[in-house]
Amino acid sequence: MSPWPYRTIIEPFRIKAVEEIPFLTEDARRAALDRAGHNLFKLFAEEVTIDLLTDSGTGAMSADQWAALMLGDESYAGSRSFRRFEAVVHRLTGVKHVFPVHQGRAAERILARTVLGPGKVVLNNTHFDTTRANVEQSGALAIDLPVASARDPEDTSPFKGDMDLDALDRAFEEYGDRVALVMITMTNNAAGGQPVSMANLAAVSDRCHQRGVPMFLDAARFAENAWFIHAREPGFDSWSLPDIARRMFDMADGFTMSAKKDGIVHIGGILATRDPVWADKFRNELILGEGFPTYGGLAGRDLEAMAVGLEEALDEGYLRYRARSIAYFAEGIEKAGIPVVHPPGGHAVYLDAGRFLSHIPKSALPGQALACALYLEGGIRGVEVGSFMFPGARLELVRLAVPRRTYTQAHIDYTIEVAERVVARAKDLRGYRIVKEPPFLRHFSAELAPL
Ligand code: F0G
Repeated sequence: MSPWPYRTIIEPFRIKAVEEIPFLTEDARRAALDRAGHNLFKLFAEEVTIDLLTDSGTGAMSADQWAALMLGDESYAGSRSFRRFEAVVHRLTGVKHVFPVHQGRAAERILARTVLGPGKVVLNNTHFDTTRANVEQSGALAIDLPVASARDPEDTSPFKGDMDLDALDRAFEEYGDRVALVMITMTNNAAGGQPVSMANLAAVSDRCHQRGVPMFLDAARFAENAWFIHAREPGFDSWSLPDIARRMFDMADGFTMSAKKDGIVHIGGILATRDPVWADKFRNELILGEGFPTYGGLAGRDLEAMAVGLEEALDEGYLRYRARSIAYFAEGIEKAGIPVVHPPGGHAVYLDAGRFLSHIPKSALPGQALACALYLEGGIRGVEVGSFMFPGARLELVRLAVPRRTYTQAHIDYTIEVAERVVARAKDLRGYRIVKEPPFLRHFSAELAPL
């Protein structure tokens, strides 16, 4: 496909079904936020105009996916839909033993309960929070080894999702046989949706295989990662996206995947391995908690939708548009006057609330202040990724995640305009304090009050 020669970013789809979005008065938004204890997770969907809380399970399915739902074979065992799904996953990844699960964390849980446990160590470029929780729940130690550039929002290096290879060598020395698994999260969500290079994947894979340690991918955003390799890594611009994706999977021994991202489905996930011994363990655990191996935690129709979505996600025109649209979004927010994490990631724009609201100390949660201001100003729902979500966090960020194929460029422009209005009254914004807090994962249910 030739490069897009026009200035205008256009959605590479037209719209066949529409869903109304709510518009509230400022008074109604203020009342909603009060009721929600100033925690955006507790808003009702009817109170949100543009929902950028997550890109997970919020994408729009294509006409082909909706049509595929009708082909779902709901047989308890031996479902035709499973074989169709399995064939797509084999073609895409080449990984032999494929298990459907209801979402990514179910794959993580099965992995953790079968091959991890007390004393073991998992090394990851950066664990996503559910991955870390599942590793730790098994009694194993979860260690993050991001490259140094990932820590600097100003650094424009192209592959800030990479794993630090020197740190990996040191961890292998320090933990020896305790290292049960190395994982590469691509794109690296917790580090700003930053991609992992093919060169880094190859180097990590080599080191793992020299030591006989399996390497798994957390492949939730495998297609966006493949796009960045195509666009940014020397030597790959002439490669097709399915070939790049296949090369990424070829270096791994297996993977977990939340298909709610690049599978473009509302529910679904995958656990896969090349190892027949691990496959037996996974199968037994799957039956215990998810379901029979030919449906996992899903209906046959979900498997059909996933089979179609996994291939659509690698469409070059779609990925070019998505990357360009998110870069445009980041440029707009920055031009409006709110610093962002560079370079823009694959699924979201991360706003640097710590720098933007430098008059609000970390203890008063500047990220939450910005997230609430975006809601009050224009009904935009993002999520704080800072001291509220992760006590002790280094950066105070707000993530505006972009659901796949759901919003148009006009929705992006509107969000940028709302950001401009927030900038105009930045000096008046105040911090928050937590008034009620659960024992863990507090950001989901805590209540706050403005200072
Ligand atoms: N791995 C990564 C990199 C993720 O981003 C997520 C979910 C998961 C695993 C877990 O998958 O939700 O299907 O169980 N991320 C969502 C987000 C929730 O908003 O970033 P799941």
